[in-house]
Amino acid sequence: MRTDQLRRAYLDFFQDLDHKVYSSAPLVPTNDPTLLFTVAGMVQFKDALTGAATPETPRAVSCQLCMRAGGKHNDLDNVGYTARHHTLFEMLGNFSFGEYFKEEAIDWAWKFVVDFLRFEKERIWITIHPTDDEAKDLWVRKIGIRPERVIPHSDNFWEMGNTGPCGPNTEIFYDQGDSFEGGPPGSPDEDGDRFLEFWNLVFPQFDRQPDGELAPLAAPSVDTGLGLERTAALMQGVASNFATDIFEPLFQAASRIGNVQSIEEALNTPSVRVIVDHIRSCAFLIADGVLPSNEGRGYVLRRVIRRALRHGHRVGASDGFFCRLVDPLVNTMGEAYPGLSDAQSQIESVLEQEEEKFASTLRFGMRLLNSLIQNLAVKELHGETVFKLYDTYGFPLDLTQDIAREHGLTVDVEGFEALMKEQRDRARGAGRFETQETKTVRFETEVEFEGYRNLQVEAQVLELLREDDGELVSVDVLRTGESGRVGLDRTPFYAEAGGQVGDTGRITTNVCSFDVSDTQRMDRQYMHQGKVVRGEIRTGDSVQTQVDAVRRQDVARNHTGTHLLHSALKRILGSHVSQRGSLVAPDRLRFDFAHDQPLTAEEVEQIEDSVNEQIALNTQVKTEVLPYDQAITLGAEALFGEKYGEIVRVLLVGNGYSTEFCGGTHVAATGEIGSLRIVSQSGISAGVRRIEAVTGRGAQARARVDDRALRELSAMLKTNRPGLVDGVTSLLDEKLELMKSLKQSRTSGVANVGRDLATEAETVGDVRVVSAVVDGDADALMSIYDDLRSRMQSYVIALAVVVDRRIQLVCGVSRDLSADIPASELLKFVGSQVGVRGGGKPEMARGGGGTDTDSLPTAMNSVLDWVRDRESLIAS
Ligand code: SER
Repeated sequence: MRTDQLRRAYLDFFQDLDHKVYSSAPLVPTNDPTLLFTVAGMVQFKDALTGAATPETPRAVSCQLCMRAGGKHNDLDNVGYTARHHTLFEMLGNFSFGEYFKEEAIDWAWKFVVDFLRFEKERIWITIHPTDDEAKDLWVRKIGIRPERVIPHSDNFWEMGNTGPCGPNTEIFYDQGDSFEGGPPGSPDEDGDRFLEFWNLVFPQFDRQPDGELAPLAAPSVDTGLGLERTAALMQGVASNFATDIFEPLFQAASRIGNVQSIEEALNTPSVRVIVDHIRSCAFLIADGVLPSNEGRGYVLRRVIRRALRHGHRVGASDGFFCRLVDPLVNTMGEAYPGLSDAQSQIESVLEQEEEKFASTLRFGMRLLNSLIQNLAVKELHGETVFKLYDTYGFPLDLTQDIAREHGLTVDVEGFEALMKEQRDRARGAGRFETQETKTVRFETEVEFEGYRNLQVEAQVLELLREDDGELVSVDVLRTGESGRVGLDRTPFYAEAGGQVGDTGRITTNVCSFDVSDTQRMDRQYMHQGKVVRGEIRTGDSVQTQVDAVRRQDVARNHTGTHLLHSALKRILGSHVSQRGSLVAPDRLRFDFAHDQPLTAEEVEQIEDSVNEQIALNTQVKTEVLPYDQAITLGAEALFGEKYGEIVRVLLVGNGYSTEFCGGTHVAATGEIGSLRIVSQSGISAGVRRIEAVTGRGAQARARVDDRALRELSAMLKTNRPGLVDGVTSLLDEKLELMKSLKQSRTSGVANVGRDLATEAETVGDVRVVSAVVDGDADALMSIYDDLRSRMQSYVIALAVVVDRRIQLVCGVSRDLSADIPASELLKFVGSQVGVRGGGKPEMARGGGGTDTDSLPTAMNSVLDWVRDRESLIAS
């Protein structure tokens, strides 16, 4: 029976028993964010099994694609080296949601296996959970299995991930005969291939809670899983899953890879088995929307792809070999899984790109390894070197060992393994999924940006540019005192983007120190700008990098704060608020947004409150790297006019409070922000407003400044803080009163001066002549002039004032005289003596600018004579 027929037969068998047929759910579970991949048929029925959701029908049957790489259910390392492990396999299963239970499940399983598939009864063995007397009784009494073949096994308890439906299980084994090695279940050599488990019947009775507790289910259910590939192998009488019909076209294609000569050789070569297995999981993952990345699911995919590529390298495969396997895969499985055919070209191009990327990593690592080997003092490669090759360049231990062997070197395996263990321990501590690896994220640049997790990494200098009179010149060395830019193969320094300023810090070797004052993108590199403060730095140098961590954390607070602010603005002012610009610096943040009126004080307070509430909740800040479309589905808002790649990074803050595209660096949990204060708002153009705010230490500093001012004010006003406003109000009232009385006294002062001058006036005939220098300013001069005028009928007046050592002059002649002796002439006469120029009308003229104050008294005295000289004119 071909695999396709077996799949169909199973579905039909249970459909005839009133089971509804479900198609395979996506490999990325849609109902359980804690689960890395769909690992079993029951995943899509989880809620129906626990009773959390009402099932559509009480019975279901499916053939589910399952992925068991990464996470708790991880078979990755075994794949290729055993006859029956896969990263991706198909699981047939029948389910009862609180309806039928053990009796029917066992009975139908038996009928399918023995009556329908015609497996030999005598070769069947069973395991049960030691406490499950009911199952034992059914197998022995109802089905008629010999009691010694129903073996209690404490492992027979099935659960998925860390939560969800679980319970005791019973497993069905088939004895493949003595040409295989291994003993019956429960015996010391049960792990051999001879006794093959192919069907697992689980009786979920509990719902595992996040705290580990087993809560009983209201209605016990059934969840079975029959391994399609294994069962096909048994049906087809072949020793390994890989030898079944469904893999054949893949081995056909793989038999032309590299040094492999025939299908037989391909089947017997673990590396080829790895490749054939991995093309299936990689293709289906990509078809389900997973893309290679450095986080979560995408990272597992990348690991699987790279594992396949390395094995390809081992058997001498040529470039592009992996993506050429997509076609034969689609030909075999595309009919059962139309989604695979639909995604064929995408799968091929994703794999091709990954292959190119990995090839350059591999080349770079090889160069590094070769230069290391040449400079080696001893005939051993250090554990640290081997680890670095593994960790940074993806070199597996065996590849490094192969190369070392060619050079007559040994490898410090122990040292390597100790470092591996350290890394695993670190990763375990950091995990969001059940397993996590050290991650790096690669965007559209040639450099590995590692600054999301690390602030210091070891790196190699790829490029040096020296600044010569504002020009950048490519050089091999930068010396003490020289300014320039350093390009590295990997870096923790964030290059300015998305409003966030570039990182600062230091790049060092034993002999050199380069101060980084800014980091900027240049083409596809990150350029570290700064100056050599000690020694010299050369291309090819291995360097230690160190980002200024304190400054980076200040920036992170402001960046996450900006996201919260953006969301709060939308919530309080309305959804029309959209980002128009932003600056994220260590000491402050600036956010420009669409809104057409000033914010009221109340709105500002509400916005601050909303943000600070999120900060106090101290929720974890999460990032997802995922395809653009998925990000949009998550609710991430794309910025108008921004360009996004196919793969985007999305930042999730406060469980749905804020979801935004962002490549920046952020705090790990909102509490780190401390607090956010809005310090100013202004309008910057029509319909666009700007807010400036501070967080963390900035908010603290701001509070301190405000506090000092208030303290000083309290001291000055001799009042406590609540009394300040009243205190200042009464000060202002007092000031108003004082101004009023000052004005009054000024007016009366002017009047006094005017009266005195009028009294002291000389007379020439009927004309009264006043010439004097007065105190005060230009206003006082004019006030006195006006007052004086009002006191006299026929007059000639010349008044001067000195302000800032400059003389100002006003001359006036009453109307009856002004035709004969115009004021402007008098001004000219007096002004010429002291350097004042000016002019005016016959009745009044003004001037200023003169500096000859020494001559002023004489000039003023000369006025009387000037009038006397013109007495005849006046008289006539
Ligand atoms: N969930 C069980 C398993 O994966 C039975 O389907 O083995």
